[in-house]
Amino acid sequence: MDKLVINGGNPLKGEVTISGAKNAAVALIPATVLIDGICTITNVPNISDVKISCKILEEIGAKVEWISKNELKIDTRNITNTTAPLDMTSKFRASSYFIGSLLGRCKKAVVGLPGGCNLGARPIDQHIKGFESLGAKVEVSQGRISAEATKLEGTHIYLDIVSVGATINVMLASVLADGSTIIENCAKEPHIVDVANFLNTMGADIRGAGTDVIKVKGVKKLTGNSTYSVVPDQIEAGTFMLAAVATKGDLIIKNCIPEHMDCLTAKILEMGAKVEYNDDTIHVSASQRPHKANIKTQPYPGFPTDLQPQIGVCLSIANGTSIIKEGIWESRFQYTAELNKMGAKITDQGKSAIFEGVEKLYGAPVEATDLRAAAALIIAGLVADGETTLTNLAHLDRGYENIEEKFRKIGANIQRISEE
Ligand code: UD1
Repeated sequence: MDKLVINGGNPLKGEVTISGAKNAAVALIPATVLIDGICTITNVPNISDVKISCKILEEIGAKVEWISKNELKIDTRNITNTTAPLDMTSKFRASSYFIGSLLGRCKKAVVGLPGGCNLGARPIDQHIKGFESLGAKVEVSQGRISAEATKLEGTHIYLDIVSVGATINVMLASVLADGSTIIENCAKEPHIVDVANFLNTMGADIRGAGTDVIKVKGVKKLTGNSTYSVVPDQIEAGTFMLAAVATKGDLIIKNCIPEHMDCLTAKILEMGAKVEYNDDTIHVSASQRPHKANIKTQPYPGFPTDLQPQIGVCLSIANGTSIIKEGIWESRFQYTAELNKMGAKITDQGKSAIFEGVEKLYGAPVEATDLRAAAALIIAGLVADGETTLTNLAHLDRGYENIEEKFRKIGANIQRISEE
């Protein structure tokens, strides 16, 4: 079992380059199932969720080649198997996208019930509602989802909940359907726009991604033969922005889309740090303890739930008391118990938490409770006096490429130690 050993106290300074977005890459890879051809995807984050997605693709008949560390060549001309391996699909949430894409291409899909971070109940009723509206029969039993249709027909779907996963999955299932599909009350996250752009580059006809209403005009075939670059990771960029705030650092964050960060930037300014945008870079600098701030997580363009633990670390050392309300997940405050072991004063009240700012955090052994909690606890370790050890790194490796090396390059004292 690997662990990270972090010695805090150094303000982070220098430049860091953001990778391609995890949440986009894990949707683009299943989306390739819809292509009857070859495509190349660049700026792919080299992380474990992406590697499993590639293995699933191979198991259902695709040829997948890493042509460099961050570039994939995928040949999906011979998709033969409509059952995605159940053990692999149950490991992470985005495996559910194989249902939409296999159903779209083969009119049949069997996928293990998706796993992923334990953030509370993670239903997929809206995905199923969309598939059924398109004409599929869907059954959930014995830990698997089976969907089948003789024909998929364009339709009008209203999603009862703004869901990233359901928006992408229904879009995937409708790309090759007969006629047009209108999806209403869509999520608007940048990676939804990325999936639509990718599919359009490969031959689809999708309009409106990034707004509440997406219109998909069914096409006969996606031929591929194109190259597509994954959008920069909004959450990784935000993680480094908040690391600069927490450590009173001065960071230039490269290869990001500043406009995707507007909501976080507003909060960072409120906390008293400086933020400057310049083309595809963001400069964040902080010279004082953060001011208190209240946060409510919401679907994009609201404050992202996936940056809630990281901003929680900043608020745990802020000047004053702050409240975070979690608007998406039932149990996203598990990290607060770990932060309290480091001297934070946080009261978890279920869907909200009260952060009484303390002057200092102290190094302690802590455990990553989920992916973004892992990133937050690294930031806490970088702020704390003394040594922090962070275990349960499988969560971290699912979603951040080379994170400790990136942190080391900007002055962090952080080492990964592998133990039997
Ligand atoms: C995606 C992200 C995840 C992020 C989340 C919210 C990926 C791979 N993961 O997760 O990192 O935290 O968006 O930004 O992109 N819901 C239902 N029924 C459904 C689907 C969702 O009730 O059929 C509810 C969920 O329980 C949750 C809310 O809708 O309360 C939002 O979930 P959703 O946007 O679907 O999240 P994911 O796509 O799973």
